[in-house]
Amino acid sequence: MGFKAFCFGLFCILYVSYTYQPIPGNIKETWKVIALDASAKTCILVASFLENIGFMRFEDFISMIVTMDNTQPTSDEYITVTETTFNHVPVRLYLPKKKLETPKRAVIYFHGGAFCFGSFKQTSYDFLNRWTANRLDAVVVAVDYRLAPHYHFPAQFEDGIAAVKYFLQDNILKKYGVDPNRICISGDSSGGTLTAAITQEMQNYPEIKSKIKMQALLYPALQIIDSHLPSHLENQHGIILTWDITIKFVSLYFTKDEELPRAMKRNQHMPLESRHLFKFANWSTLLPEKLKKNRIYTASVLGGYNSSVPGLMDIRAQPLLANDSLLQILPSTYVITCQYDVVRDDGFMYVTRLRNLGVQVTHHHLEDGFHGALSYMTFPFYLQLGFRIRDMYINWLDENL
Ligand SMILES: *[C@@H]1O[C@H](CO)[C@@H](O)[C@H](O)[C@H]1NC(C)=O
Ligand SMILES: *[C@@H]1O[C@H](CO)[C@@H](O)[C@H](O)[C@H]1NC(C)=O
Ligand SMILES: *[C@@H]1O[C@H](CO)[C@@H](O)[C@H](O)[C@H]1NC(C)=O
Repeated sequence: MGFKAFCFGLFCILYVSYTYQPIPGNIKETWKVIALDASAKTCILVASFLENIGFMRFEDFISMIVTMDNTQPTSDEYITVTETTFNHVPVRLYLPKKKLETPKRAVIYFHGGAFCFGSFKQTSYDFLNRWTANRLDAVVVAVDYRLAPHYHFPAQFEDGIAAVKYFLQDNILKKYGVDPNRICISGDSSGGTLTAAITQEMQNYPEIKSKIKMQALLYPALQIIDSHLPSHLENQHGIILTWDITIKFVSLYFTKDEELPRAMKRNQHMPLESRHLFKFANWSTLLPEKLKKNRIYTASVLGGYNSSVPGLMDIRAQPLLANDSLLQILPSTYVITCQYDVVRDDGFMYVTRLRNLGVQVTHHHLEDGFHGALSYMTFPFYLQLGFRIRDMYINWLDENL
């Protein structure tokens, strides 16, 4: 009995020391955040355990948990919700019932989930997209895309492009009563990566380009060439999303090769031929002083990972690496960044580059924010932070779209 109690006590101590994360003082709803963070870390612990005993892959377990949260398309008093496909890509449509004198605004939304999981079906995305349609009397198109590791880059990007091209045809916009001059593309996290990459790609299509009035990037990931940014190092054990897990999932976007995440942790994963790209992600020049703190920029060691992985140098996977001629023709851009977020500095660097080139940018930075907060707006995981981000985003859309 004594021994069992001792083992149990020891287990509890180990468990708490593994999951417990001190929460910065300016974060509100501390206890809720601690609980959410501990549940996220518990999932990761279980997923790692199941992978180690060979029962199932890490990402399959996480995906299974996330899928439990899926919803059916359910219409309500104000919005008709249906699902269909655009060029074989699944979409969920939110069509306001209210009749307007004029054509409606539209938002195309890409969900997050590190390219490995997630769907517009998740409660929180369904909630956000319905809210957007309702508040703006706008048509909302939520897009799903093939996921890693079953499908690697560029499948996700190609699905996004296919759905956007389909929707932006004149006859389709007309069918849904959408004003072709008032369309925004939005996405959070990896959905933000896709949004930025798709908006760039669409600049090659004159008849489509003019229809994208703006893009909204909500705590986006925009590069992987440098994996030792100040935000990576500061948020190594970050709230909900740690640096290890980010690297694990992001590398699965490109390849199953387990050497890539190891090389990324050493910041030695980029090939020798990528040297010319580093100026586009040079945090020494692109980050404000307050984020650099006293860190000294050290260039990455190139050539430490020699497998050929398509995508590592591709702007369709890393929109921050696009050159100035492409960036300067981008439409009006909205960016949200969070202080306690591994990918915070990606957003900051993109904002600096776009502003330097004269692109109109609205940037909201949440000093008490952390990654993925938009996922916490539905029962039982409400966080005021999620609603605040939602309202900032919706207000910006309402005023500008
Ligand atoms: C980054 O910027 C710093 C400061 O301007 C400069 O010294 C360094 O050479 C740059 N590095 C790269 C890789 O562009
Ligand atoms: C890749 O690097 C490893 C270790 O640095 C080396 O053993 C291997 O031969 C290299 N492979 C190629 C194809 O260059
Ligand atoms: C900039 O990038 C685009 C897209 O990758 C490319 O087509 C173009 O040639 C590049 N322009 C310059 C000046 O390098």
